[in-house]
Amino acid sequence: MKRETWQTKIGLIFAAAGNAIGLGNLLRFPSKVALYGGGAFMVPYFVALFLLGIPLMLIEWVIGRYAGAKGHGSMTGIIGSFFNHSYGSRVIGSIGVSIPVLIVCYYIYIESWTLGFAFLSLLGKMPQPVQSPDYKAAMEPYVSFFKDYTEPSLTALVFLVITLAINWVILQRGIVKGIELTAKYGLPLLILMGIFLGFVSLSMNGWKGVEGLLFIYTPDFSKLSDPQVWLEASGQIFFTLSLGMGAIATYASYVKRNEDAVKAGLWTAGLNEFVEVVIGASIAIPAAFAVFGALAVPELAKEGTFRIGFMTMPAILMSLPFGSLLSTVWFFLLFIAALTSSLALTQPLVALLEDEMRWSHSKAVNVSMLLVSAGAFLSAFVPGFIDDVDFWAGTLMLLFFGLLEIIIFVWIFGVNNFHRELNTNSFIRIPKALVYFFAVVSPVFLVILLYFWGVTKL
Ligand code: PHE
Repeated sequence: MKRETWQTKIGLIFAAAGNAIGLGNLLRFPSKVALYGGGAFMVPYFVALFLLGIPLMLIEWVIGRYAGAKGHGSMTGIIGSFFNHSYGSRVIGSIGVSIPVLIVCYYIYIESWTLGFAFLSLLGKMPQPVQSPDYKAAMEPYVSFFKDYTEPSLTALVFLVITLAINWVILQRGIVKGIELTAKYGLPLLILMGIFLGFVSLSMNGWKGVEGLLFIYTPDFSKLSDPQVWLEASGQIFFTLSLGMGAIATYASYVKRNEDAVKAGLWTAGLNEFVEVVIGASIAIPAAFAVFGALAVPELAKEGTFRIGFMTMPAILMSLPFGSLLSTVWFFLLFIAALTSSLALTQPLVALLEDEMRWSHSKAVNVSMLLVSAGAFLSAFVPGFIDDVDFWAGTLMLLFFGLLEIIIFVWIFGVNNFHRELNTNSFIRIPKALVYFFAVVSPVFLVILLYFWGVTKL
């Protein structure tokens, strides 16, 4: 059976950017920034972007292309292909595949809220705003609305089923007609809606939103000795760039052999960062600053990841002219971002079943989506499921697996081999010194992070 390849260059870049750009950029990032002190979070964030994010992005692209040419697209096959497909190597690879599968179980449930809230906003079913300078009073109706919805209500379950069905259909249509097509329409729409809402948020209350941007971009070096900030910032880099679980490598395995992996990797990271540190930074936090003031923002963040996106944002947007419409745009923006990512989180499992088990595409998708559906219902009904899995699978396992990827794909594959693969079809020549630098500095950085995490948490 011949494996599919992305049809166009632009389609492949959009698909990879859609993979990376998701709820991580528009919800997870603002809440972490607010929680860990704005400028204090951004210093480790950018250090991690350059020391971990970019190197691993290039590693996953190069290795994905390399393994794809041999017919492998999941970590099971990719890691296996470096060890003669020994049993142990396949088990380790399969642990890698389990990370996105675990994540997608709660991710897709949150995705279904965004679709539900978009529809409810459009139909005028969101609570009416309370005009009050006190953020607690202003948010009250939206807090109880969210609680009732995620109880879960019947509406929530209906939208979960719809969301699962949408993902199912797109994956069933395959790489080109499913994922690539969705990304080709979705990504430009996402960027337009994001720029629009960024503009709305920054300009609120006579451009008071800009203070929110300043909060994020005024570097604060005083908290750099706190290992928790480093761990969370690095975890965010992995999560937002879809690294450390093979999701990027899986997409990269569907390129033609003569594609430029370096260029594709840099585009993926660049577009993702644009939608995170420019667009993502300009919406939720600036809006909260403009309307509720600087003091409210860290308080809101402490109340959980969903507070700002699902309660503060609608409370703010609904009180503006055309509020229902603005709220619809916000939740639809989140939905598109989430959709192109949930596809990417499921595809590694599909690839495993197709490439390694030799199942037909349709059987592979059906079984994968059945599993994801079961997990999604679990996350809907088990309290605490989302936060726990987000920490263990969505932060910690990523760091471990990222370390493993560097060891296998650079050290065991060999620096020379890796360097040759990296420069194959690359538009710039990457010197070997840089490979050595990444191969040493990134793992050391990761080991230190994990060590401090162990010391403080265990
Ligand atoms: N990067 C996505 C986000 O920011 C999440 C994701 C992780 C998607 C891994 C695919 C694979 O929301």
